[in-house]
Amino acid sequence: MQFTVAIDGPAAAGKGTISRAVALRFGFRHLDTGALYRAVGVMGGDPVAAARALTPEDLARDDLRTLEAGQAASRVAVIPEVRAALLEFQRRFARREGGAVLDGRDIGTVICPAAEVKLFVTASPEVRARRRWLELGGEAAAKPYDAVLAEVRERDGRDMNRADAPLKPAADAVLLDTGDLSADAAIARACDLVASRLPGKGA
Ligand code: CDP
Repeated sequence: MQFTVAIDGPAAAGKGTISRAVALRFGFRHLDTGALYRAVGVMGGDPVAAARALTPEDLARDDLRTLEAGQAASRVAVIPEVRAALLEFQRRFARREGGAVLDGRDIGTVICPAAEVKLFVTASPEVRARRRWLELGGEAAAKPYDAVLAEVRERDGRDMNRADAPLKPAADAVLLDTGDLSADAAIARACDLVASRLPGKGA
């Protein structure tokens, strides 16, 4: 069975948590497409060459989840040749037998416009910045909350305003605002949606 779940949304909206849980529940493979851009961003040198030469080991680096890697990712992500170099890998992953969940910014709009399920996960910049700040250690984090909020806003701006594959919901995406939802509640809604679209459910 080929079945693609596309989960898009801005930084720290909850895409990763929801995607991993959906993949686990339905036995689908999961690809965090942000890791591709983060890896290209932290590799330095020519980003187009880095994107063309990306290996699985590059995706296993332990420095991909830092704020700096997120900023570097969104800077290389505006380059059309970088996006083009990463496109086929993502499409192949999406159509593998057994079902796939991909999370990112342009999965429902560009990578998999025919995905069986499209979810656009969002929350206010303040809520998302607080989550990212807590992930980084809260009061013990190297950066104050205000600095994290400024970085979230900067990355949102770059991701939404770029010419190639800007962050926006697909016309047929289901919107999920996680601002007032627990992680479990958000996961439950996503799983209900996927279950309703599985072959044989007639949705
Ligand atoms: O985890 P978080 O939401 O903070 O970020 P991420 O999903 O790891 O993505 C990091 C950056 O990569 C984003 O800010 C985008 O600029 C870029 N990206 C993209 O352009 N397209 C994707 N499909 C995934 C990420």
